[in-house]
Parts: sequence; C-alpha cells; structure tokens
Amino acid sequence: MQLFLDSAETDEIAYALEYWNIDGITTNPRHVKNSGKAYLTVLEEIADLVKDTETPVSVQVNPRLNDWTRMVDEASRLAEISPNFVIKLAAGEDGFRAVQELTQREIQTNVTLVFSVSQAWHAARNGATYVSPFVGWKENHGDAGVDLIADCAVMLDNFGYPTQIIAAAIRNTRQIGDVALAGAHCVTAAGSVYRDSFRNPYTDMGNKIFGDAWDGTEMD
Ligand code: E4P
Repeated sequence: MQLFLDSAETDEIAYALEYWNIDGITTNPRHVKNSGKAYLTVLEEIADLVKDTETPVSVQVNPRLNDWTRMVDEASRLAEISPNFVIKLAAGEDGFRAVQELTQREIQTNVTLVFSVSQAWHAARNGATYVSPFVGWKENHGDAGVDLIADCAVMLDNFGYPTQIIAAAIRNTRQIGDVALAGAHCVTAAGSVYRDSFRNPYTDMGNKIFGDAWDGTEMD
C-alpha cells in the first residue's frame, strides 16, 4: 500500500518527502485555504518540491464548476503546471463525463468524495486513475467506511479495472491497518495521523526495559 500525505503545507510535504519516503501527495481546497496562500501559489510550490520525480500530486478543480466542459478546461490548465498533477474531481454525472474526456487526453484523474461502490464503478469505467472513498467521513457518522474499501477492491478486481483505491480521510492508526487489509492501493492522511502511527506505547515501554538493561551491562 502506498503512503500519500494529505496536505497543502509545503514545509510538511518537504519533510515527509525527505524523512518518510512518501509515495504521493493529495490536497484539497480546504487544506489550501488553511495554508493562507493563493491556490495556484501552493500548487506551484508543491510542483517544485516534486520536480524531476514521479510523485503524484492530486489537485482539485473548483467544486463549483458544475459543468463537465468547464471542469475539463480547468483540469487541463492545472495539468499544464506539472506532469505530476493528478486532477481531482468530485464523483457525479459531470465529474464522470470529465474523467472520460481527461482519460482521452491522457490526463490522470482522482475521483474524490466517493461514498458508494457504484460511484467507484462509474469512475473506473471512465478511466479514472484513482478513486478516493472517504473512510473517516463515513465512520464519523456510524457508517462502515472500511467495508467500502473492501467492496471497491472486489469490484475493481472483478472487472480488471486498473483504477487504484486511495483510502482517504483516515483519522487514526487503526484505520491505516484496516484499509491495508481491506485492499486499498494507497492511503492518504494528515501528517499528525502518520506521526501517531509510527509509535506504540509498548515500543516505548520495551525501549525503556532494554535501555535500562543496556545501562546495567558492559559493552566488552
Ligand atoms: C483526500 O484526498 C482528501 O483530501 C481528504 O482525505 C479529505 O478529508 P479530510 O480533510 O476531512 O481529511
């Protein structure tokens, strides 16, 4: 399973590229807004960080564009900024039509805000590179988010679609493990979620036990 960082903070992304060997980056309009910078400024800064690599960066078109031709126009403009950019579009009739067109233009796509197998299927049959089921949003409201990952994985496998699943809106260490077992190809989460997932209180306890033992012995 590939590790994607969900962020629009360039310092955090630079750190994660250097220390965590991340495989990709996902952004969304809310992350960019929180960065306090203009949309294209952030995108250009991220493009610069991944220059000369194949690291995919998902960048979203304006969610207010409700017409597929306008989505395609904006997607094409964003794709010109960097060959690493994967265009994020919301699941929906116009989103799927835009994916069909972008696939023909060989522009990679990530269908976001996926909440059902049907939506993932529409995305896949139109050539989406990725689908992003939002695990955390479902689980926050008592729905089975991880089951959606497993079901999408079966559907993609049934028909041999090359579309990859990005398990998105992941909130904790447990969910990272669960989506890995459910068949997600990639996981995307905030830096704070990954930081928690690196450590475990038992590891800390064990390090103390072994550290104390080390202090009580001689090297040679
Ligand atoms: C994924 O690609 C999304 O950017 C992300 O997971 C959205 O959800 P969140 O911001 O609530 O985590």
